[in-house]
Amino acid sequence: MDIAQQIKSQLDIVRVISDYVPRLRRFGNRYSCLCPFHNEKTPSFSVYADHQFYKCFGCDARGDVFNFVMSIENITFWEALKKLAEQNGLPLPKQSQVSDEKTRARGALREMHEIAVEHFRGNLAGPNGARARDYLTGRGVAPPSIESFQLGLADSSGRALLRLLEQRGFRQEQLAESGLFGRRDDGTLYDRFRNRLMFPIYDESGKPIAFGGRALDPGENAKYVNSSETEIYKKSNVLYNLNRAKQTAAKIDRIVMVEGYMDVIGATQAGVAEVVAICGTALTVEQIRAMKRHSQNLHLNLDADSAGNKAAERSVKLLLDENVRVRVVELEGGLDPDEYCKEHGAETYRERIAKAKPYFYWLADRARGKFDLRDPQGRNDIFQFLLPAIQALRDKIERVSVANDLASYLGIESGLVLEHFRKMAADKSERASAPPKVNSKRPADRILLLSLLAAEEGRDELIQALRGVSGWNQSPAAGIYRTIVSMHDSGSAIAFHSLHERLEPGDQNLLASLVLDSEGGATTVEDGMACIEAMRREERESAARDLKGKIKVAEREGKLEEAFELMRQLAQMSETPVRG
Ligand code: UTP
Ligand code: MN
Repeated sequence: MDIAQQIKSQLDIVRVISDYVPRLRRFGNRYSCLCPFHNEKTPSFSVYADHQFYKCFGCDARGDVFNFVMSIENITFWEALKKLAEQNGLPLPKQSQVSDEKTRARGALREMHEIAVEHFRGNLAGPNGARARDYLTGRGVAPPSIESFQLGLADSSGRALLRLLEQRGFRQEQLAESGLFGRRDDGTLYDRFRNRLMFPIYDESGKPIAFGGRALDPGENAKYVNSSETEIYKKSNVLYNLNRAKQTAAKIDRIVMVEGYMDVIGATQAGVAEVVAICGTALTVEQIRAMKRHSQNLHLNLDADSAGNKAAERSVKLLLDENVRVRVVELEGGLDPDEYCKEHGAETYRERIAKAKPYFYWLADRARGKFDLRDPQGRNDIFQFLLPAIQALRDKIERVSVANDLASYLGIESGLVLEHFRKMAADKSERASAPPKVNSKRPADRILLLSLLAAEEGRDELIQALRGVSGWNQSPAAGIYRTIVSMHDSGSAIAFHSLHERLEPGDQNLLASLVLDSEGGATTVEDGMACIEAMRREERESAARDLKGKIKVAEREGKLEEAFELMRQLAQMSETPVRG
């Protein structure tokens, strides 16, 4: 067994996946949930405990435990391997043996970030950190928050981090690609962050991958500076604090989304731990998908200025397209969550969140401010403004009910415009998204394949018997049988995933549809042998029919010699015992 297989054999795919997708439902030895890789309303994603395999019948995402972690974390094979080994306390051989170049480069990036976090934290705690500590105290950031968010300080030298990482042996190319440094015209590097309060940005599993730095000097022209994008940091994929928010989010089934770093800290201190920030980016589908694995109930709490409102409007549409249920938190006085908590206290902030209205009431309020309700044209404009957000709802009954609620919320009880609006809301064509139903047409293939995969000890015997018949060559699953036989001959380990990997796409689907969807108990070697015998019998009967036909023809044509010879063959055939 190679190292990957060794590690895999000690992992349970169901447990690993449920760390990422907390809402797996169990059906026998199959588990199901909404697919984390595409948008859907009814679950077509399944995890098969028996085969240690996952498959989505909607988007065709599939694979083993490594494939899952690679896709969901967007990491390389070796990174996934290391991560899973580490998380599960499984030993790994030395670094060099289990790596490729890309993984090593990414490993160096991660290492630099670990070092940088410690370096910045040291600065903040040290003698030169007094001013920054005062700043944090002034903003109400308590010491436990400094600790848990691992806040730090970049000094004003412009080279302290550079020196440190050089000393630790990182090469100039590695430093240049870390996102932590700028480059002068003469090619030399300098610290990107100078005299800034440092917020480490973590990936979903809690490893630092970038920084945001807030100016401490009010004269500084950029309030925040962020790391530039790197191999491990894509700004539009990251939600700040998701690594910490996700546990609470899954538990209470709610996520609060705010604008920035300080809002996250303020909200967390106010007892709202399920908070993430978009950090000045336009919300992306990647961010929504990362978030909605933990909860599909989102409370948007973006800044209430006009840019924030526009951003919220755009986000609502995107979120509804992804089937996220959206509420909008409104804070009076145009305050951001951090300021609001300080001004009104934690209790009031939590109340605001609890009272957040469904997005369409918020949109209606926005519309009221923009258009004139007394005017038919104004009413028309309002409805045009609201329509896209309503049409984004998949369910017709829900659309009609929201349209009615909105009309009465706006105080519009009758009229042509309202009728038109209701009709438009109802009419949107339903998207058919039911996963294709899988059924296995040939139960014998299903049983035989299951027993070939399951029966480690009896496999030799089964394959030997399979060689003795040719009936399976006509089976739609012929390609699968051939692959199994050739894997067996070359001594490869036969398991669902290793077999699946070697098949053509058409056969991959066939294998999945035959094997994965099967319910019921274990399939034994005897079950498989019975299938092969049935094939043999079928073969024999068809050969006998063939011979009988030929005998008739020979007799009719008076070729008695030939007819006798054929009869002899027929008699011999029925003497051969069934099992060879
Ligand atoms: P804000 O300007 O609302 O700042 O930007 P803030 O979070 O309230 O910060 P404080 O309270 O003034 O310290 C919201 C977020 O947008 C990103 C940061 O992530 C910030 O937290 N941002 C903002 C930038 O990336 N660059 C900027 O220049 C400004
Ligand atoms: Mn703020």
